[in-house]
Amino acid sequence: MLMVDLILKKRTGQVLTDQEINFIINEYVKSNIPDYQMSAFLMAVCFQGMNEHESTALAMAMRDSGKVYDLSKIKGIKVDKHSTGGVGDKVTLVLGPMVAAVGAKFAKMSGRGLGHTGGTLDKLEAIKGFQLEQSEEDFIELVSKHGLAVIGQSDDVTPADKLLYALRDVTGTVDSVPLMASSIMSKKLASGSDVICLDVKYGSGAFMHTVADAENLANVMVKIGKLAGKKMTAMITSMDEPLGHKIGNGLEVYEAIETLKGNGPEDLVTVVTEIGAYLTVDAKIFKTLEEARKELRKTLTDGRAFGKLREMVVAQKGDVSMIDHPEKFLTAKTHKIYADKAGFIESFKTTDIGTAARLLGAGRLTKEDVLDLDVGVDIHKKIGDKVEKGDLLATIYHNDKGLKQATEVLNSAIKIGKTQKPAELIAKVIR
Ligand code: URA
Repeated sequence: MLMVDLILKKRTGQVLTDQEINFIINEYVKSNIPDYQMSAFLMAVCFQGMNEHESTALAMAMRDSGKVYDLSKIKGIKVDKHSTGGVGDKVTLVLGPMVAAVGAKFAKMSGRGLGHTGGTLDKLEAIKGFQLEQSEEDFIELVSKHGLAVIGQSDDVTPADKLLYALRDVTGTVDSVPLMASSIMSKKLASGSDVICLDVKYGSGAFMHTVADAENLANVMVKIGKLAGKKMTAMITSMDEPLGHKIGNGLEVYEAIETLKGNGPEDLVTVVTEIGAYLTVDAKIFKTLEEARKELRKTLTDGRAFGKLREMVVAQKGDVSMIDHPEKFLTAKTHKIYADKAGFIESFKTTDIGTAARLLGAGRLTKEDVLDLDVGVDIHKKIGDKVEKGDLLATIYHNDKGLKQATEVLNSAIKIGKTQKPAELIAKVIR
């Protein structure tokens, strides 16, 4: 088999066999296929697409490129979630403790930020000492004992995805349905949970801009998961504005803690509750979604969910004083942005809000960048909010780096207009 023939086959819109897809992944991981050929192949996939069978074969080949976790030693049904990437998306930090508080086993492997979107690993590193690297045995023990653990993906899990991801990031081949679906599902299938909920984002801050594109991606991922024997849900949720208010690693941990104490923004609480409801019904903890929603919301006000976060931080050796005194996450200097006219918040350029945080140092601009975990942005308004001239729109948390550029980007990312349009949050649920 020759890679050049397979590039040509895909470039001309033909369907690849399982054997051909396995060859591409196996040989690339062994460095027998150079990056320039793989880049050409990825671009051909972007233009020609893949059918569901090919996407599934690609996900399976990527899963089998490394270690597949066996979580069967953990008693009960294991649940997991994954977001396709958002701005201010701190769902995992709230959802894990909430579902663990009602008895679910939340076994989550998380990734780092990508492009303008944040990553849970970077956020958890804002908690001093928090140990993200855990062996399979320790991961199993943590989930068994505490009901939750969030760890980094070790190097031996889906090495094909790691290599392909880095290549896609720099070859303009991220937002392709088969490439995203196989990347996400290879990791979900390798990390061993039984029940999975995918949070598929659409809108101005997501990789998929329309509901239809997000739905297309969700359908492919749900089918791949089902073929692998997983119980699947995909929720299509809006990224037309940041989720909650705060964007930036430590800032998002702060907002997650506030949410776990019952003081969270309603959009975040709604998304987390909905994802949690499907996970816990599928895990047979609750009989109905209604019952699940009610109980999950209760965990935010009776201290159970906050208690689970604390327990996880202690178990993973993080500095629990930061959880007890979350103001420790708010140490950067502040710069405020005010409205220059009255009206209603009509829209956000959400990707640009992510970019502003990135310019301050909250995200990477090159692979080598070291993050500033204290910086970011607090957007005080939501779509549809009434604004008076001089109202506080946003607070930038900074340590000088990138302040001027981030302020400019942010100023043009918030659109004040004359009409009051309601914001959509959850467009669809696919089961
Ligand atoms: N998240 C992933 O893990 N992979 C993608 O391709 C996109 C978002």
